[in-house]
Amino acid sequence: KKRVAVLISGRGSNMTALIEACKDPAYPAEIVAVLSNKPDAAGLEVARSHGIEATPVPQKDYASRTAHEAALNAELTRIAPDVICLAGYMRLMSADFVGQWEGRMINIHPSLLPLFKGLDSHARVLESGMRIHGCTVHFVTAEMDGGPIIAQGVAPVKPDDTEETLTARVLSMEHRLYPLALKLVAEGKARMVDGGIVYSGLGEADRLSF
Ligand code: GAR
Repeated sequence: KKRVAVLISGRGSNMTALIEACKDPAYPAEIVAVLSNKPDAAGLEVARSHGIEATPVPQKDYASRTAHEAALNAELTRIAPDVICLAGYMRLMSADFVGQWEGRMINIHPSLLPLFKGLDSHARVLESGMRIHGCTVHFVTAEMDGGPIIAQGVAPVKPDDTEETLTARVLSMEHRLYPLALKLVAEGKARMVDGGIVYSGLGEADRLSF
């Protein structure tokens, strides 16, 4: 099984979806550690309740982004993950840090990238008048929310949607999408090569979108 570290900043519902998926003996990955830049992230306790090592690396304990990333890197080097999953990790990473894990770090973003990069995607989708929305799992590169797309899930935008109802609909899509995308990466069926995506050995069950 591939060793996975999950980075969170908050409640960690995507992390929990990955933990649940990993309980299937046939799943090709296991969550070996959870790290958070926020010491009070609720997801840390959730991870521990599943018997997973969960460590805060509080950004406020470090004077600079560089110093915080060095501390994070020290933890990650100790953990030696094959794959790093960002799951609601809300701090920008330097190009240096990203470069060290390129091809091995993936993120989930609540929009159909390359549309609606950045924060508050749900509110901006509502404002745009678009009738579809969704979520994306992609490899992390130095360009925020700009790395090669692995898989996407689509959700309708309904006429009476509020930011809350739309967020909830996309979030439940995220919980389905992330385990599916991590599986593709763990099995080597989705790889980042020369800054792009390469798929190989996909079977009937391997969907890239739904
Ligand atoms: C998720 O919707 C995730 O896609 C988003 O934050 C939420 C975290 O929820 N991530 C980003 O916006 C990344 N910029 P969770 O902690 O319950 O998984």
